[in-house]
Formats: sequence, structure tokens, C-alpha cells
Amino acid sequence: MGSNLLPINALERNMKNIPEFSVLPKHVGIIMDGNGRWAKQRNLPRYKGHIEGAKTFRKIGEFAADVGVKCLTFYAFSTENWKRPQEEIDAIMALFRDYLIEAEERSAENEEKGIQLRFLGDRKGIPEDIVAMMNHIESMSSDKSKVVLNIAVNYGGRHEIANAVRKIAEKVRNGEMDICDIDEDTISDLLYTKGLPDPDLIIRPSGECRLSNFLTYQSAYSELWFSDVLWPDFTEDDFLEALREFEKRNRRFGGV
Ligand code: IPE
Ligand code: IPE
Ligand code: MG
Repeated sequence: MGSNLLPINALERNMKNIPEFSVLPKHVGIIMDGNGRWAKQRNLPRYKGHIEGAKTFRKIGEFAADVGVKCLTFYAFSTENWKRPQEEIDAIMALFRDYLIEAEERSAENEEKGIQLRFLGDRKGIPEDIVAMMNHIESMSSDKSKVVLNIAVNYGGRHEIANAVRKIAEKVRNGEMDICDIDEDTISDLLYTKGLPDPDLIIRPSGECRLSNFLTYQSAYSELWFSDVLWPDFTEDDFLEALREFEKRNRRFGGV
């Protein structure tokens, strides 16, 4: 992804057969799950599933931007995924590294297109060369705002909230903040998603109906859409189906 990540004009939309929606989510979160089972079904090692999953990530990222979604968050690696065999972790990190190299190579192109790349999660524990690229790519694109593409790596919602609480406690201790002034925005502003809208829609393929520590604070009012399709098999049509379903949802936010 990266080469083509930009909202397209009406003519292109027509040519690419991209439908219009009466309402689009401002922010879509995607839990990229099912790579291992996809490989198992084919008697392949799990890492092959991750290779295919990485291709799907590029495809759906481009497509989502074509459809007009302005903010996307892909869940790539959780704080819990370190429990996996080292071999599998290494394979996932290697794929992430490849993606970052590609993103650096395309930085000028992405800049022109106004793409902001952001990485959500704790950088501690991630190989140093990867962290260096993450920091570099992020700082180069931080002023762009046409499409925000977040990749959650070593991300855990509870970890994120605990970090925010620690920072607030420090401010109170240092006399920089009064306890009475702590509100929901205080917390939001200390999350990795600072400044971004909460996810309106969260998509999880692979048949699991849970969030697995994804955007825990931000998902309070997210619409959830689950599918049995394994992530490497996830298509543009599946994405459109999720958007169609979102279009029909009646969001009340506690009102009537
Ligand atoms: C998602 O696929 C990728 C990561 C969690 C890194 P899985 O590897 O969890 O695939 P399944 O759930 O075992 O099929
Ligand atoms: C969630 O998938 C994390 C990512 C997709 C990165 P998992 O496969 O780790 O989730 P669980 O273990 O089934 O809840
Ligand atoms: Mg899984």
C-alpha cells in the first residue's frame, strides 16, 4: 500500500466501479485476523498466512482510501502476540520491515498525496532498526491530513489506558493538573489516537467475535462488524459489505 492511497475523483470512481454511500465511517478499524488458520487449511507454515495477510492489508488499505474513508487503523500485532513462537514473531516483524522500507521508498509520492502514516503502540520491544524507520516515516508525514493510515503494532488497549493514567498521575503530582480537571478528553488526548475521531466501524474477519484489546477506550460507541472470512481471503467486496451494513445501522449514542 502507499502508491495509490488517495481518495479518487468521480471519473476514476466510475471506472473502478466504486459505489457511493449515503454515510461513510470517518474512521474504520480492522483487526487483521485469521492468517494462521488460512495457512493451516493449506498445510502451509503459519508465516505463509502472514505473507498473504500483508498483501490483503495493502489491497484493502488502497481500496478503503479509494472509497473515501479518511482514517484507517489496521491491527497488525498486539501486546499479547509476543506469546507466540519466536519464529513466527520474527516472520511478522520481517514483513513489517519490508513494508516500512517500501513506505520510505515511496515517501515523496505519499507526501504529494497527503498521506499521514502513524504507528500506534509501544515501541519498546520492537527491533531497533524497525523503530528507527517508524519514527522517520511518522515524522516525515505528520503534517499530512488527506488520509490517516494507522498501523497498530505492539498495541494493547489496556496498556494504552494504563500509560495515560500514569501520565495524568505524574501531572497531578507535579502540580501541573488539578484532579477535578480530569475528564474524558484528558484521557483521549493521551492515547496514541490523539486528535483522530473514534472508530465508527470496527471490522473483524476470521469468525472471532471479540476485540482482543483493540482500541479499548476509543471503541465505546463503535459499530462492530464480524465476518467468517479469513483475513488473507478478505476482498474489496467484503469491505463494501461492511460499509453497507454500517450505512443501515441506527446510531443513537444513548439518545432516542
Ligand atoms: C492475525 O492472524 C495476525 C496476527 C495476530 C499477528 P493470526 O496469526 O492470529 O491467525 P489465526 O487467528 O491463528 O488464524
Ligand atoms: C488480534 O488477533 C490481534 C491482531 C490481529 C493483531 P489475535 O489472533 O491475537 O486474537 P485472539 O488471541 O484470537 O483474541
Ligand atoms: Mg488470531
